[in-house]
Amino acid sequence: MGSQVGVVRLAGVTKRYQNGDETIEALADVDFRAERGEMVTVIGPSGSGKSTMLNVIGLLDTPTTGTVRIQTRDVTAFTEDELTEERRSVIGFVFQEFHLLPMLTAVENVELPSMWEPTVDRRDRAVDLLRRVGLGDRLDHTPDELSGGQRQRVAIARALINEPDIVLADEPTGNLDRETGETILEELTALQTNENVAVVAVTHDEQLVEYADRVVELVDGRVTT
Ligand SMILES: Nc1ncnc2c1ncn2[C@@H]1O[C@H](COP(=O)(O)OP(=O)(O)O)[C@@H](O)[C@H]1O
Ligand SMILES: [Mg+2]
Repeated sequence: MGSQVGVVRLAGVTKRYQNGDETIEALADVDFRAERGEMVTVIGPSGSGKSTMLNVIGLLDTPTTGTVRIQTRDVTAFTEDELTEERRSVIGFVFQEFHLLPMLTAVENVELPSMWEPTVDRRDRAVDLLRRVGLGDRLDHTPDELSGGQRQRVAIARALINEPDIVLADEPTGNLDRETGETILEELTALQTNENVAVVAVTHDEQLVEYADRVVELVDGRVTT
């Protein structure tokens, strides 16, 4: 896909929440674009709309007004089913709290997002991804047998199982010490080149900014940079 198109693009996106008779404008007229092979970091204070923006990019939430494009497709008017399908095939998520299932091993957690797909090499791919994030010797460990950094690496491998074009990370180092956070950031940076994906990472942590190709700042739901 041409790099000028943007693998994901938001245009004039506003998101309002109704809280009783109070209206909260979480995003106000936001334009945003990310390309394959770049890491964009979204910064801003708590409550500035970072998670809302990531959820809109990740098709987990729909804007009140404005448009969302994935590659050349305008997905703004997609049905819930169409959004789910688009999300599965294009987007990988990494969360602050890892969101691993405690009863499953590392390799089973990585396989999970591809369970609906009738591919025979699912296990091989999961093993390969875990090896690539340095966990080849932890395949059958459950999350409680892994450190925080190892859990987040499992989550990164899981985000890649469906060969996404975009990897979204919400505060990916938020629950990790600085040194472990550094290794996770190196892992995310490697994705851009090795997998040719767009990485969009949200943080209030300045550490993440050092790794970014581009920084977008949100204040009160508006992009300031
Ligand atoms: N589901 C929701 N209902 C009502 N208000 C919400 C909801 N989600 C987020 N908000 C509000 O939108 C604003 C932005 O929130 P959020 O995107 O979570 O910010 P951040 O991730 O930067 O901390 C905040 O004022 C928050 O309270
Ligand atoms: Mg948030």
